[in-house]
Amino acid sequence: MVCVVGEAGREHALAVALKESAAEVIVAPGNSGIAAFPGAEGIRVSSISPEALEADLFVIGPEANLVRGLADELRAAGKLVLGPGAEGARLEGSKVWMKSILDRANVPTARWRSFSDPIQAKAFLSSLKPPYVIKTDGLAAGKGVLVTNALEEAESDVEAKLAGRAFGEAGRVVVIEEAMAGPEVSLLALCDGRKAVPLPPARDAKRLQDGDRGPNTGGMGAFSPVPDVTAAVQEEIVERCIEPTLAALQREGIDYRGVLYAGCMLTEEGPKVVEFNVRFGDPEAQVVLPRLGGDLTGLLMEAAQGDLRSFAQVRPEAAVCVVLASEGYPVRSRRNQPMVAPKPFPGVTILQAGSRMDEEGNLLTNGGRVLDVVATGSDLAQARERAYEAVAAHAWPGAQWRNDIAGHAVSGGGG
Ligand code: AMP
Ligand code: GLY
Repeated sequence: MVCVVGEAGREHALAVALKESAAEVIVAPGNSGIAAFPGAEGIRVSSISPEALEADLFVIGPEANLVRGLADELRAAGKLVLGPGAEGARLEGSKVWMKSILDRANVPTARWRSFSDPIQAKAFLSSLKPPYVIKTDGLAAGKGVLVTNALEEAESDVEAKLAGRAFGEAGRVVVIEEAMAGPEVSLLALCDGRKAVPLPPARDAKRLQDGDRGPNTGGMGAFSPVPDVTAAVQEEIVERCIEPTLAALQREGIDYRGVLYAGCMLTEEGPKVVEFNVRFGDPEAQVVLPRLGGDLTGLLMEAAQGDLRSFAQVRPEAAVCVVLASEGYPVRSRRNQPMVAPKPFPGVTILQAGSRMDEEGNLLTNGGRVLDVVATGSDLAQARERAYEAVAAHAWPGAQWRNDIAGHAVSGGGG
């Protein structure tokens, strides 16, 4: 039995993928949408805390659990865990720590400085040319980054973050960094402490609206493969970004067993790290996992045991994920909107990211990102077409989604 810790679309995607090679998968806590529509027999949700569950492997989804040390607690109780301990999770939990590690390891990334004093931060801003990039040091659910050409906006963002108004304690230190330009790619690698096995690359859409407009979100969709990320580009990211970071963690005495997710920008000077995450991406997992063949449970177990011997087997199919989000997301998500039960479409899986089933058996919205419509196909064009057909059949009044996921990639461009 495998226990997937978390409650959203990524965890549902993990459960569906792991079920192919595991007899039983429990999502803890999951959500009642997953309970109603598990996607396969043998997938259950449980409100019992992971510490009290018995499983052959624990896979931890959310960064917050990792940053607060859940992997350490489970390992101390003798459990097999995929996910770094609190020390390694600082790569995502503190941008200052992450940037310092990268500098020491000579990993290409934007030049940066950190500030806790607004006067010094603003003096630094006025010495820079736009665009200005301001980040919270701590976790902010993917929403703590401002990129703007307006100095005034940058200054008031710095003030709001440092005063604790915008992101609480997470914003009491900010990182101001050089702006980079270029297409982005998420490259996730499974790590066993010493070795990294890359998974297929994905590209996610962070902004709410088509054409990369509107506010940043947790992610509105994703696709894999990414046509402009060739095998050579992927290798460069592994060699210049992922492997040196893993080696630097090792030098810090950190036995990093989990997913190392490099968010990179493909700049004119080559790939540079925008951020590291310490877990599967959401919604990247939704498109990376369906492309993996072979024994996924076995592969994750090898990483968790510190003994990766296998490689990821990649299926030739493409995958596209379109997120259906609530009205009002990402500011104030409208809950309790009636939805339809998942309908069968060829090559399509409907993942329950933020839904719930009420006592009368109605499926209702219950969060920001509500459904992940994931389609596979022989190529991106087919996967995309299948995904959007299913989107139309599952949208509720007020639902928000992007119509351009994988659009450029299909028509010959990048996004
Ligand atoms: P992060 O949470 O650090 O991944 O940042 C969220 C998004 O902000 C990234 O995916 C980029 O699109 C953008 N961004 C972050 N850092 C930079 C940078 N230094 N230059 C340009 N854009 C950036
Ligand atoms: N899709 C971005 C993330 O998982 O942080």
